[in-house]
Amino acid sequence: MLSKIQETAAFLKKKMTTQPETAIILGTGLGGLSNEITDKLEIPYANIPNFPISTVEGHSGQLIFGKLGKKDIIAMQGRFHFYEGYTLQEVTFPIRIFRELGIKTLFVSNASGGCNPAFKVGDLMVLTDHINYILDNPLCGPNIPYGPRFPGMKEVYDKELIKKADAIAKELNIELQHGVYLATKGPTFETPSEYNMFRLWGADAVGMSTVPEVIVGVHCGMRIFGISVITDMGVGEDAVEASHEEVQKAAALVEPKMMTLMREMINRS
Ligand code: HPA
Repeated sequence: MLSKIQETAAFLKKKMTTQPETAIILGTGLGGLSNEITDKLEIPYANIPNFPISTVEGHSGQLIFGKLGKKDIIAMQGRFHFYEGYTLQEVTFPIRIFRELGIKTLFVSNASGGCNPAFKVGDLMVLTDHINYILDNPLCGPNIPYGPRFPGMKEVYDKELIKKADAIAKELNIELQHGVYLATKGPTFETPSEYNMFRLWGADAVGMSTVPEVIVGVHCGMRIFGISVITDMGVGEDAVEASHEEVQKAAALVEPKMMTLMREMINRS
């Protein structure tokens, strides 16, 4: 695994002309941010040795090196999901590459179903913690010496970055929720009973991504900031049958707000 990581990192290093310390995973609801990246170097996943290839509709796959405002960044346009059939080691492979490339801060985004009855469709939720209900862990297997065998997960999401997000949101008049994100394996959406159970467990939103990448980010010693767009409600009066189309539609409506917040976060961090 380590030799594969190093081979891929060496391939990318040869192409890089900058030294970014910030990486962003452009999930559902943040894809448009790629249009704001300047001085772009785009490398399709298919052209990167050892990279998995994204298959899901609505997630095209490439790494983008460039600038967001004044900041040098690497963006993942399209991510890998466990439900696509990848192992969690494959899902998180890019994060380990980022570690080799010198990334210190990881911004992640996703879409999720709300299970906090105080939320509504279109809300943005800053991740304050997560529950790994994928029932697998990307750190299983021989420990890669980026971090300890048994990494702590007490404070995964950087408190300073959360404070910064709150300040920016206040300044820009963006309403921001805080909450716990629970990741399932997918690809099924939740039954009403599962939503109720997740709520009892302390989850505010449920999705099918992010937690594996975040776990590996923590293992690699990265500062993490995560944000989720609530695209459907699983509990309460607004509970609906979620669908991929609904998720994409709701996420597109909130995208400008999400993009503004992330752009500012990245520029000021
Ligand atoms: N459940 C799981 N994943 C999701 C949901 C949901 O309700 N909405 C968007 N992604």
